[in-house]
Amino acid sequence: MKITPLDIQHQQFSVRLRGFDVGEVDRFLELVADTFEEVHGENERLKEKVHRLRKEKEAIKSREDTFRKTLLEAQGVIEHMKENAEKKARTIIDQAQLKADQIVNRAHNRLGKLHGDIAELKRMEEEILKAEKLESLGVLAGGLAHDFNNVLTTILGNVSMAKYQASPESDIFELLSEVEAASKRAQSLTNQLLTFAKGGAPVKETASLADIIKESSGFVMSGSKSVCELSIADNLWPVEVDVGQISQVIHNIIINANQAMPEGGVIKIRAGNLIIDEGNERQLKPGRYVRMSFNDEGMGISEKHLSKIFDPYFTTKHAGSGLGLAATYSIIRRHGGIITVETQMEIGTTFHICLPASEKPVPDKERAELLTGKGKILVMDDEAPLRKMYGMVLGKLGYTSEFAEDGDEALRMAKEAKQASKPYDAAILDLTIPGGMGGKEAIQKLLEIDPEIRAIVSSGYADDPVMADFQEYGFKGRLAKPFEFGALSNVLHEVIKGE
Ligand SMILES: Nc1ncnc2c1ncn2[C@@H]1O[C@H](COP(=O)(O)OP(=O)(O)OP(=O)(O)O)[C@@H](O)[C@H]1O
Ligand SMILES: [Mg+2]
Repeated sequence: MKITPLDIQHQQFSVRLRGFDVGEVDRFLELVADTFEEVHGENERLKEKVHRLRKEKEAIKSREDTFRKTLLEAQGVIEHMKENAEKKARTIIDQAQLKADQIVNRAHNRLGKLHGDIAELKRMEEEILKAEKLESLGVLAGGLAHDFNNVLTTILGNVSMAKYQASPESDIFELLSEVEAASKRAQSLTNQLLTFAKGGAPVKETASLADIIKESSGFVMSGSKSVCELSIADNLWPVEVDVGQISQVIHNIIINANQAMPEGGVIKIRAGNLIIDEGNERQLKPGRYVRMSFNDEGMGISEKHLSKIFDPYFTTKHAGSGLGLAATYSIIRRHGGIITVETQMEIGTTFHICLPASEKPVPDKERAELLTGKGKILVMDDEAPLRKMYGMVLGKLGYTSEFAEDGDEALRMAKEAKQASKPYDAAILDLTIPGGMGGKEAIQKLLEIDPEIRAIVSSGYADDPVMADFQEYGFKGRLAKPFEFGALSNVLHEVIKGE
Protein backbone atom coordinates (compact mmCIF):
# COMPACT_ATOMS: atom_id res chain seq x y z
CA MET A 1 0.00 0.00 0.00
CA LYS A 2 1.23 3.45 -0.94
CA ILE A 3 1.92 5.76 2.02
CA THR A 4 0.67 9.31 1.29
CA PRO A 5 1.94 12.44 3.14
CA LEU A 6 -1.42 12.47 4.80
CA ASP A 7 -0.80 9.02 6.28
CA ILE A 8 2.47 10.28 7.74
CA GLN A 9 0.83 13.34 9.25
CA HIS A 10 -1.85 11.08 10.54
CA GLN A 11 0.83 8.91 12.20
CA GLN A 12 2.59 11.91 13.76
CA PHE A 13 -0.65 13.32 14.95
CA SER A 14 -1.75 10.06 16.53
CA VAL A 15 1.57 9.88 18.50
CA ARG A 16 1.09 13.43 19.75
CA LEU A 17 -2.46 12.64 20.79
CA ARG A 18 -1.56 9.63 22.81
CA GLY A 19 -3.04 10.06 26.02
CA PHE A 20 -6.32 11.28 24.62
CA ASP A 21 -9.34 9.13 24.16
CA VAL A 22 -8.26 7.12 21.20
CA GLY A 23 -11.72 6.44 20.02
CA GLU A 24 -12.49 10.11 19.83
CA VAL A 25 -9.28 10.88 18.10
CA ASP A 26 -9.87 8.20 15.57
CA ARG A 27 -13.26 9.56 14.82
CA PHE A 28 -11.80 12.99 14.54
CA LEU A 29 -9.11 11.74 12.31
CA GLU A 30 -11.60 9.83 10.24
CA LEU A 31 -13.59 13.03 9.91
CA VAL A 32 -10.52 14.92 8.91
CA ALA A 33 -9.61 12.24 6.41
CA ASP A 34 -13.13 12.27 4.99
CA THR A 35 -13.15 15.99 4.78
CA PHE A 36 -9.73 15.95 3.16
CA GLU A 37 -10.90 13.34 0.71
CA GLU A 38 -13.93 15.43 -0.15
CA VAL A 39 -11.91 18.61 -0.51
CA HIS A 40 -9.35 16.79 -2.59
CA GLY A 41 -12.07 15.31 -4.81
CA GLU A 42 -13.71 18.69 -5.14
CA ASN A 43 -10.36 20.18 -5.96
CA GLU A 44 -9.73 17.59 -8.66
CA ARG A 45 -13.13 18.25 -10.19
CA LEU A 46 -12.51 21.95 -10.12
CA LYS A 47 -9.15 21.46 -11.76
CA GLU A 48 -10.81 19.37 -14.44
CA LYS A 49 -13.50 21.98 -14.91
CA VAL A 50 -10.93 24.73 -15.21
CA HIS A 51 -9.01 22.60 -17.68
CA ARG A 52 -12.19 21.97 -19.66
CA LEU A 53 -13.14 25.63 -19.59
CA ARG A 54 -9.68 26.61 -20.70
CA LYS A 55 -9.97 24.13 -23.58
CA GLU A 56 -13.37 25.52 -24.51
CA LYS A 57 -12.01 29.05 -24.36
CA GLU A 58 -9.17 28.06 -26.68
CA ALA A 59 -11.61 26.42 -29.04
CA ILE A 60 -13.78 29.53 -29.04
CA LYS A 61 -10.71 31.69 -29.58
CA SER A 62 -9.58 29.59 -32.54
CA ARG A 63 -13.10 29.69 -33.97
CA GLU A 64 -13.10 33.45 -33.50
CA ASP A 65 -9.77 33.67 -35.32
CA THR A 66 -11.06 31.60 -38.21
CA PHE A 67 -14.17 33.72 -38.31
CA ARG A 68 -12.18 36.92 -38.31
CA LYS A 69 -9.90 35.56 -41.06
CA THR A 70 -12.87 34.48 -43.14
CA LEU A 71 -14.43 37.88 -42.61
CA LEU A 72 -11.27 39.59 -43.80
CA GLU A 73 -11.09 37.34 -46.82
CA ALA A 74 -14.75 37.96 -47.57
CA GLN A 75 -14.15 41.68 -47.33
CA GLY A 76 -11.24 41.34 -49.77
CA VAL A 77 -13.38 39.39 -52.19
CA ILE A 78 -16.19 41.92 -51.92
CA GLU A 79 -13.76 44.74 -52.45
CA HIS A 80 -12.34 42.97 -55.51
CA MET A 81 -15.80 42.27 -56.84
CA LYS A 82 -16.77 45.87 -56.32
CA GLU A 83 -13.71 47.06 -58.16
CA ASN A 84 -14.34 44.61 -60.98
CA ALA A 85 -17.95 45.64 -61.24
CA GLU A 86 -16.96 49.29 -61.32
CA LYS A 87 -14.37 48.61 -63.99
CA LYS A 88 -16.88 46.68 -66.08
CA ALA A 89 -19.48 49.37 -65.65
CA ARG A 90 -16.97 51.99 -66.70
CA THR A 91 -16.04 50.06 -69.87
CA ILE A 92 -19.69 49.56 -70.71
CA ILE A 93 -20.36 53.26 -70.21
CA ASP A 94 -17.28 54.17 -72.26
CA GLN A 95 -18.33 51.85 -75.05
CA ALA A 96 -21.84 53.19 -74.98
CA GLN A 97 -20.47 56.73 -75.12
CA LEU A 98 -18.25 55.77 -78.08
CA LYS A 99 -21.17 54.18 -79.89
CA ALA A 100 -23.33 57.20 -79.17
CA ASP A 101 -20.57 59.51 -80.45
CA GLN A 102 -20.22 57.41 -83.58
CA ILE A 103 -23.93 57.49 -84.23
CA VAL A 104 -24.05 61.24 -83.67
CA ASN A 105 -21.06 61.68 -85.96
CA ARG A 106 -22.58 59.53 -88.64
CA ALA A 107 -25.83 61.43 -88.36
CA HIS A 108 -23.85 64.68 -88.65
CA ASN A 109 -22.06 63.41 -91.73
CA ARG A 110 -25.31 62.25 -93.28
CA LEU A 111 -26.83 65.60 -92.55
CA GLY A 112 -23.82 67.36 -94.02
CA LYS A 113 -23.99 65.20 -97.14
CA LEU A 114 -27.70 65.81 -97.38
CA HIS A 115 -27.09 69.54 -97.13
CA GLY A 116 -24.44 69.18 -99.81
CA ASP A 117 -26.79 67.14 -101.98
CA ILE A 118 -29.52 69.72 -101.59
CA ALA A 119 -27.11 72.52 -102.48
CA GLU A 120 -25.88 70.47 -105.43
CA LEU A 121 -29.44 69.81 -106.53
CA LYS A 122 -30.22 73.49 -106.28
CA ARG A 123 -27.14 74.32 -108.27
CA MET A 124 -28.12 71.77 -110.93
CA GLU A 125 -31.62 73.16 -110.99
CA GLU A 126 -30.21 76.64 -111.51
CA GLU A 127 -27.94 75.31 -114.25
CA ILE A 128 -30.90 73.68 -115.97
CA LEU A 129 -32.96 76.82 -115.62
CA LYS A 130 -30.14 78.86 -117.01
CA ALA A 131 -29.68 76.44 -119.91
CA GLU A 132 -33.42 76.55 -120.62
CA LYS A 133 -33.45 80.32 -120.43
CA LEU A 134 -30.52 80.51 -122.81
CA GLU A 135 -32.13 77.94 -125.09
CA SER A 136 -35.38 79.89 -125.47
CA LEU A 137 -33.55 83.18 -125.78
CA GLY A 138 -31.43 81.48 -128.39
CA VAL A 139 -34.42 80.48 -130.47
CA LEU A 140 -35.73 84.04 -130.36
CA ALA A 141 -32.34 85.59 -131.07
CA GLY A 142 -31.67 83.07 -133.84
CA GLY A 143 -34.88 83.93 -135.65
CA LEU A 144 -34.22 87.62 -135.33
CA ALA A 145 -30.62 87.34 -136.41
CA HIS A 146 -31.53 85.24 -139.43
CA ASP A 147 -34.08 87.75 -140.69
CA PHE A 148 -31.82 90.63 -139.83
CA ASN A 149 -29.00 89.04 -141.81
CA ASN A 150 -31.18 88.84 -144.90
CA VAL A 151 -32.07 92.52 -144.55
CA LEU A 152 -28.40 93.33 -144.08
CA THR A 153 -27.43 91.36 -147.18
CA THR A 154 -29.83 93.46 -149.21
CA ILE A 155 -28.58 96.71 -147.62
CA LEU A 156 -24.97 95.78 -148.21
CA GLY A 157 -25.60 94.66 -151.78
CA ASN A 158 -27.38 97.86 -152.64
CA VAL A 159 -24.84 100.07 -150.90
CA SER A 160 -22.07 98.39 -152.90
CA MET A 161 -24.07 98.96 -156.09
CA ALA A 162 -24.69 102.62 -155.15
CA LYS A 163 -21.02 103.12 -154.28
CA TYR A 164 -20.07 101.60 -157.62
CA GLN A 165 -22.21 104.22 -159.33
CA ALA A 166 -20.98 107.18 -157.25
CA SER A 167 -17.76 108.99 -157.89
CA PRO A 168 -15.12 108.17 -155.23
CA GLU A 169 -14.50 111.87 -154.58
CA SER A 170 -18.14 112.74 -153.89
CA ASP A 171 -19.67 113.25 -150.43
CA ILE A 172 -22.23 110.57 -151.19
CA PHE A 173 -19.41 108.01 -151.67
CA GLU A 174 -18.10 108.78 -148.21
CA LEU A 175 -21.59 108.57 -146.70
CA LEU A 176 -22.16 105.22 -148.42
CA SER A 177 -18.81 103.99 -147.11
CA GLU A 178 -20.00 104.87 -143.59
CA VAL A 179 -23.22 102.96 -144.20
CA GLU A 180 -21.19 100.01 -145.47
CA ALA A 181 -18.90 100.02 -142.42
CA ALA A 182 -21.85 100.26 -140.03
CA SER A 183 -23.63 97.43 -141.86
CA LYS A 184 -20.51 95.28 -141.56
CA ARG A 185 -20.39 95.92 -137.82
CA ALA A 186 -24.05 94.99 -137.63
CA GLN A 187 -23.28 91.84 -139.60
CA SER A 188 -20.53 90.74 -137.24
CA LEU A 189 -22.92 91.32 -134.34
CA THR A 190 -25.56 89.20 -136.04
CA ASN A 191 -23.03 86.47 -136.61
CA GLN A 192 -22.19 86.49 -132.93
CA LEU A 193 -25.89 86.25 -132.16
CA LEU A 194 -26.32 83.40 -134.64
CA THR A 195 -23.56 81.34 -133.07
CA PHE A 196 -25.05 81.84 -129.66
CA ALA A 197 -28.48 80.96 -130.98
CA LYS A 198 -27.62 77.96 -133.14
CA GLY A 199 -30.05 75.33 -132.00
CA GLY A 200 -28.32 72.48 -133.75
CA ALA A 201 -25.35 70.46 -132.69
CA PRO A 202 -21.89 71.73 -133.55
CA VAL A 203 -20.33 70.30 -136.71
CA LYS A 204 -17.48 68.45 -135.11
CA GLU A 205 -14.19 67.20 -136.43
CA THR A 206 -11.17 65.75 -134.71
CA ALA A 207 -8.81 68.62 -134.05
CA SER A 208 -5.89 69.75 -131.93
CA LEU A 209 -6.72 72.43 -129.38
CA ALA A 210 -3.08 73.48 -129.50
CA ASP A 211 -3.48 74.48 -133.14
CA ILE A 212 -6.76 76.30 -132.51
CA ILE A 213 -5.33 78.18 -129.52
CA LYS A 214 -2.19 79.22 -131.43
CA GLU A 215 -4.15 80.43 -134.43
CA SER A 216 -6.90 82.26 -132.52
CA SER A 217 -4.66 83.93 -129.94
CA GLY A 218 -2.25 85.19 -132.59
CA PHE A 219 -5.09 86.65 -134.57
CA VAL A 220 -6.77 88.41 -131.63
CA MET A 221 -3.65 89.89 -130.15
CA SER A 222 -2.23 91.61 -133.18
CA GLY A 223 -2.08 95.34 -132.41
CA SER A 224 -2.94 95.05 -128.72
CA LYS A 225 -1.02 96.25 -125.65
CA SER A 226 -1.19 92.87 -123.94
CA VAL A 227 0.72 89.71 -124.76
CA CYS A 228 -0.28 86.07 -124.67
CA GLU A 229 1.95 83.52 -122.96
CA LEU A 230 1.20 80.00 -124.13
CA SER A 231 2.01 76.90 -122.16
CA ILE A 232 0.55 73.88 -123.90
CA ALA A 233 1.27 70.27 -122.97
CA ASP A 234 3.10 68.40 -125.74
CA ASN A 235 0.96 65.30 -125.62
CA LEU A 236 -2.38 67.13 -125.63
CA TRP A 237 -5.19 64.72 -126.48
CA PRO A 238 -7.19 65.57 -129.60
CA VAL A 239 -10.75 66.89 -129.23
CA GLU A 240 -13.91 66.49 -131.25
CA VAL A 241 -14.99 70.09 -131.89
CA ASP A 242 -16.55 72.59 -134.24
CA VAL A 243 -13.30 74.43 -134.99
CA GLY A 244 -15.06 77.67 -135.94
CA GLN A 245 -17.07 77.74 -132.73
CA ILE A 246 -14.13 76.89 -130.46
CA SER A 247 -12.04 79.59 -132.17
CA GLN A 248 -14.83 82.00 -131.39
CA VAL A 249 -14.82 80.91 -127.73
CA ILE A 250 -11.09 81.55 -127.49
CA HIS A 251 -11.53 84.90 -129.24
CA ASN A 252 -14.24 86.02 -126.87
CA ILE A 253 -12.29 85.11 -123.76
CA ILE A 254 -9.01 86.64 -124.92
CA ILE A 255 -10.77 89.84 -126.01
CA ASN A 256 -12.40 90.10 -122.58
CA ALA A 257 -9.05 89.51 -120.86
CA ASN A 258 -7.45 92.15 -123.05
CA GLN A 259 -10.26 94.61 -122.28
CA ALA A 260 -9.86 93.93 -118.55
CA MET A 261 -6.27 95.25 -118.77
CA PRO A 262 -6.50 98.70 -120.41
CA GLU A 263 -2.83 99.35 -119.63
CA GLY A 264 -1.82 96.00 -121.10
CA GLY A 265 -0.59 92.88 -119.33
CA VAL A 266 0.05 89.18 -119.72
CA ILE A 267 -2.64 86.70 -120.67
CA LYS A 268 -1.45 83.26 -119.63
CA ILE A 269 -3.01 80.47 -121.69
CA ARG A 270 -2.47 76.93 -120.49
CA ALA A 271 -3.70 73.63 -121.88
CA GLY A 272 -3.29 70.13 -120.50
CA ASN A 273 -4.89 66.73 -120.24
CA LEU A 274 -7.23 65.89 -117.38
CA ILE A 275 -8.91 62.68 -116.22
CA ILE A 276 -12.22 63.24 -114.49
CA ASP A 277 -13.55 60.62 -112.09
CA GLU A 278 -17.01 59.53 -111.13
CA GLY A 279 -18.98 61.89 -108.87
CA ASN A 280 -16.86 64.95 -109.60
CA GLU A 281 -18.14 68.31 -108.47
CA ARG A 282 -18.15 69.61 -112.01
CA GLN A 283 -20.94 67.19 -112.98
CA LEU A 284 -19.01 65.97 -115.96
CA LYS A 285 -19.18 62.44 -117.29
CA PRO A 286 -16.12 60.59 -116.04
CA GLY A 287 -13.43 60.28 -118.70
CA ARG A 288 -10.59 61.99 -120.49
CA TYR A 289 -10.74 65.74 -120.97
CA VAL A 290 -8.58 68.54 -122.26
CA ARG A 291 -8.49 71.64 -120.10
CA MET A 292 -7.67 75.16 -121.25
CA SER A 293 -7.17 78.06 -118.82
CA PHE A 294 -7.00 81.76 -119.64
CA ASN A 295 -5.58 83.93 -116.90
CA ASP A 296 -5.40 87.72 -116.97
CA GLU A 297 -4.07 90.37 -114.59
CA GLY A 298 -7.10 92.59 -115.03
CA MET A 299 -9.52 94.29 -112.67
CA GLY A 300 -11.43 91.11 -111.78
CA ILE A 301 -15.20 90.58 -111.60
CA SER A 302 -17.19 91.72 -108.58
CA GLU A 303 -19.29 89.21 -106.70
CA LYS A 304 -22.40 91.09 -107.72
CA HIS A 305 -21.62 90.61 -111.42
CA LEU A 306 -20.17 87.11 -111.26
CA SER A 307 -23.49 85.29 -111.47
CA LYS A 308 -24.55 87.34 -114.50
CA ILE A 309 -21.55 87.26 -116.80
CA PHE A 310 -22.89 84.33 -118.86
CA ASP A 311 -26.31 85.95 -119.31
CA PRO A 312 -26.97 87.30 -122.78
CA TYR A 313 -26.81 91.09 -122.93
CA PHE A 314 -25.09 91.41 -119.59
CA THR A 315 -22.24 93.85 -120.01
CA THR A 316 -20.35 96.37 -117.91
CA LYS A 317 -18.72 97.88 -120.97
CA HIS A 318 -19.65 101.07 -122.70
CA ALA A 319 -19.75 99.52 -126.15
CA GLY A 320 -20.21 95.89 -125.15
CA SER A 321 -23.07 93.76 -126.43
CA GLY A 322 -22.87 91.24 -123.60
CA LEU A 323 -23.08 88.33 -126.02
CA GLY A 324 -19.48 87.10 -125.90
CA LEU A 325 -19.72 84.91 -122.81
CA ALA A 326 -23.33 83.87 -123.49
CA ALA A 327 -22.24 82.46 -126.85
CA THR A 328 -19.15 80.93 -125.24
CA TYR A 329 -21.26 79.24 -122.58
CA SER A 330 -23.70 77.65 -124.99
CA ILE A 331 -20.96 76.52 -127.36
CA ILE A 332 -19.07 74.79 -124.57
CA ARG A 333 -22.22 73.13 -123.24
CA ARG A 334 -23.06 71.85 -126.71
CA HIS A 335 -19.62 70.29 -126.88
CA GLY A 336 -20.27 68.33 -123.68
CA GLY A 337 -17.81 70.53 -121.80
CA ILE A 338 -17.89 73.01 -119.00
CA ILE A 339 -16.67 76.56 -118.39
CA THR A 340 -15.86 77.91 -114.95
CA VAL A 341 -14.38 81.14 -113.69
CA GLU A 342 -12.15 82.20 -110.81
CA THR A 343 -11.65 85.86 -110.07
CA GLN A 344 -10.19 88.25 -107.54
CA MET A 345 -10.73 91.99 -107.62
CA GLU A 346 -7.65 93.93 -108.74
CA ILE A 347 -5.71 90.67 -109.15
CA GLY A 348 -7.21 89.02 -112.17
CA THR A 349 -9.53 86.47 -113.66
CA THR A 350 -9.11 82.91 -114.92
CA PHE A 351 -11.55 81.09 -117.17
CA HIS A 352 -11.24 77.29 -117.27
CA ILE A 353 -12.73 75.22 -120.07
CA CYS A 354 -12.90 71.42 -120.09
CA LEU A 355 -13.71 69.62 -123.33
CA PRO A 356 -14.05 65.86 -123.79
CA ALA A 357 -10.98 64.29 -125.40
CA SER A 358 -11.34 62.29 -128.59
CA GLU A 359 -10.13 58.76 -129.18
CA LYS A 360 -9.43 59.55 -132.81
CA PRO A 361 -6.15 61.00 -134.06
CA VAL A 362 -6.09 64.45 -135.68
CA PRO A 363 -6.15 63.96 -139.47
CA ASP A 364 -2.91 64.64 -141.26
CA LYS A 365 -2.39 68.28 -142.20
CA GLU A 366 -0.76 67.28 -145.47
CA ARG A 367 -4.06 65.88 -146.67
CA ALA A 368 -5.15 69.48 -147.15
CA GLU A 369 -3.46 69.56 -150.54
CA LEU A 370 -5.54 68.54 -153.53
CA LEU A 371 -5.88 64.79 -153.79
CA THR A 372 -6.79 63.56 -157.22
CA GLY A 373 -8.75 60.39 -157.80
CA LYS A 374 -10.73 58.33 -160.24
CA GLY A 375 -14.37 57.43 -160.47
CA LYS A 376 -17.86 58.49 -161.51
CA ILE A 377 -19.61 60.95 -159.21
CA LEU A 378 -23.31 61.72 -159.07
CA VAL A 379 -23.94 65.31 -157.98
CA MET A 380 -27.43 66.41 -156.86
CA ASP A 381 -27.92 70.17 -156.47
CA ASP A 382 -30.76 72.49 -157.47
CA GLU A 383 -28.49 75.42 -158.37
CA ALA A 384 -27.22 75.38 -161.92
CA PRO A 385 -24.13 77.57 -161.29
CA LEU A 386 -23.06 75.21 -158.54
CA ARG A 387 -23.54 72.14 -160.73
CA LYS A 388 -21.35 73.83 -163.31
CA MET A 389 -18.68 74.57 -160.73
CA TYR A 390 -18.80 70.94 -159.47
CA GLY A 391 -18.31 69.68 -163.02
CA MET A 392 -15.23 71.85 -163.51
CA VAL A 393 -13.58 71.03 -160.18
CA LEU A 394 -14.35 67.32 -160.27
CA GLY A 395 -12.87 67.15 -163.76
CA LYS A 396 -9.73 68.86 -162.48
CA LEU A 397 -9.50 66.30 -159.68
CA GLY A 398 -9.67 63.44 -162.16
CA TYR A 399 -13.29 62.36 -161.64
CA THR A 400 -16.17 62.23 -164.11
CA SER A 401 -19.47 63.69 -162.97
CA GLU A 402 -23.19 63.44 -163.75
CA PHE A 403 -25.87 65.78 -162.41
CA ALA A 404 -29.36 65.63 -160.94
CA GLU A 405 -31.54 68.60 -159.97
CA ASP A 406 -33.40 66.81 -157.19
CA GLY A 407 -33.86 63.52 -155.39
CA ASP A 408 -36.21 61.95 -157.90
CA GLU A 409 -33.81 62.49 -160.74
CA ALA A 410 -30.89 61.25 -158.66
CA LEU A 411 -32.77 58.04 -157.82
CA ARG A 412 -33.64 57.38 -161.43
CA MET A 413 -30.03 57.87 -162.49
CA ALA A 414 -28.68 55.65 -159.73
CA LYS A 415 -31.13 52.89 -160.68
CA GLU A 416 -30.14 53.02 -164.35
CA ALA A 417 -26.45 53.00 -163.49
CA LYS A 418 -26.89 50.02 -161.23
CA GLN A 419 -28.89 48.11 -163.84
CA ALA A 420 -26.21 48.83 -166.40
CA SER A 421 -23.69 47.48 -163.90
CA LYS A 422 -21.95 50.83 -163.89
CA PRO A 423 -22.81 52.13 -160.40
CA TYR A 424 -21.57 55.51 -159.18
CA ASP A 425 -18.41 55.52 -157.10
CA ALA A 426 -19.80 58.31 -154.95
CA ALA A 427 -22.71 60.73 -154.74
CA ILE A 428 -22.79 64.31 -153.43
CA LEU A 429 -26.30 65.20 -152.25
CA ASP A 430 -27.50 68.67 -151.32
CA LEU A 431 -29.43 68.52 -148.06
CA THR A 432 -32.22 70.94 -148.97
CA ILE A 433 -33.84 71.17 -152.38
CA PRO A 434 -36.66 73.75 -152.32
CA GLY A 435 -39.84 72.08 -153.52
CA GLY A 436 -38.13 68.73 -154.17
CA MET A 437 -36.71 65.64 -152.51
CA GLY A 438 -33.65 66.64 -150.49
CA GLY A 439 -30.62 64.63 -149.44
CA LYS A 440 -32.05 63.28 -146.17
CA GLU A 441 -34.89 61.45 -147.92
CA ALA A 442 -32.91 60.61 -151.04
CA ILE A 443 -30.16 58.77 -149.17
CA GLN A 444 -32.63 56.26 -147.68
CA LYS A 445 -34.02 55.38 -151.11
CA LEU A 446 -30.58 55.40 -152.73
CA LEU A 447 -29.35 52.88 -150.17
CA GLU A 448 -32.25 50.59 -151.12
CA ILE A 449 -31.22 50.74 -154.77
CA ASP A 450 -27.51 50.51 -154.12
CA PRO A 451 -26.56 49.55 -150.55
CA GLU A 452 -22.90 50.10 -151.45
CA ILE A 453 -23.38 53.74 -152.41
CA ARG A 454 -20.97 56.15 -150.78
CA ALA A 455 -22.86 59.37 -150.36
CA ILE A 456 -21.69 62.76 -149.11
CA VAL A 457 -24.15 65.27 -147.66
CA SER A 458 -23.60 68.88 -148.57
CA SER A 459 -25.27 71.93 -147.06
CA GLY A 460 -25.00 75.59 -146.26
CA TYR A 461 -26.75 74.88 -142.95
CA ALA A 462 -23.69 73.69 -141.11
CA ASP A 463 -25.65 73.35 -137.89
CA ASP A 464 -28.27 71.00 -139.31
CA PRO A 465 -28.44 67.76 -137.28
CA VAL A 466 -27.93 65.73 -140.46
CA MET A 467 -24.62 67.53 -140.98
CA ALA A 468 -23.58 66.92 -137.39
CA ASP A 469 -24.49 63.22 -137.30
CA PHE A 470 -24.25 62.42 -141.00
CA GLN A 471 -23.29 58.78 -140.40
CA GLU A 472 -26.51 58.08 -138.53
CA TYR A 473 -28.45 59.11 -141.61
CA GLY A 474 -26.49 56.77 -143.89
CA PHE A 475 -23.92 59.21 -145.31
CA LYS A 476 -20.23 58.42 -145.44
CA GLY A 477 -19.04 62.02 -145.49
CA ARG A 478 -20.12 65.66 -145.32
CA LEU A 479 -19.22 68.86 -147.11
CA ALA A 480 -20.16 72.20 -145.56
CA LYS A 481 -20.89 75.00 -148.03
CA PRO A 482 -19.13 77.21 -148.88
CA PHE A 483 -16.21 74.83 -149.27
CA GLU A 484 -12.71 75.01 -150.60
CA PHE A 485 -11.65 72.62 -153.29
CA GLY A 486 -9.28 70.96 -150.86
CA ALA A 487 -12.20 69.98 -148.65
CA LEU A 488 -14.03 68.46 -151.65
CA SER A 489 -10.98 66.51 -152.76
CA ASN A 490 -10.40 65.26 -149.20
CA VAL A 491 -13.90 64.08 -148.55
CA LEU A 492 -14.11 62.28 -151.93
CA HIS A 493 -10.78 60.64 -151.33
CA GLU A 494 -11.83 59.51 -147.83
CA VAL A 495 -15.18 58.19 -148.95
CA ILE A 496 -13.97 56.33 -152.03
CA LYS A 497 -10.77 54.99 -150.49
CA GLY A 498 -12.47 54.31 -147.15
CA GLU A 499 -13.43 50.75 -148.14
N1 LIG B 1 -11.54 88.71 -118.05
C1 LIG B 1 -12.48 89.49 -117.51
N2 LIG B 1 -12.17 90.37 -116.54
C2 LIG B 1 -13.12 91.16 -115.98
N3 LIG B 1 -14.42 91.13 -116.32
C3 LIG B 1 -14.80 90.28 -117.27
C4 LIG B 1 -13.87 89.41 -117.92
N4 LIG B 1 -14.55 88.67 -118.82
C5 LIG B 1 -15.85 89.05 -118.74
N5 LIG B 1 -16.00 90.02 -117.82
C6 LIG B 1 -17.28 90.66 -117.45
O1 LIG B 1 -18.35 89.93 -118.01
C7 LIG B 1 -19.16 90.76 -118.80
C8 LIG B 1 -19.77 89.98 -119.92
O2 LIG B 1 -18.79 89.58 -120.85
P1 LIG B 1 -19.20 89.30 -122.35
O3 LIG B 1 -17.98 88.90 -123.09
O4 LIG B 1 -20.35 88.38 -122.36
O5 LIG B 1 -19.73 90.69 -122.84
P2 LIG B 1 -18.91 92.00 -123.18
O6 LIG B 1 -17.46 91.70 -123.28
O7 LIG B 1 -19.33 93.02 -122.22
O8 LIG B 1 -19.48 92.33 -124.61
P3 LIG B 1 -19.13 91.61 -126.00
O9 LIG B 1 -18.23 90.46 -125.68
O10 LIG B 1 -20.40 91.16 -126.56
O11 LIG B 1 -18.45 92.66 -126.77
C9 LIG B 1 -18.25 91.88 -119.22
O12 LIG B 1 -18.96 93.04 -119.54
C10 LIG B 1 -17.38 92.06 -117.99
O13 LIG B 1 -18.05 92.81 -117.01
MG1 LIG C 1 -16.74 90.10 -124.43
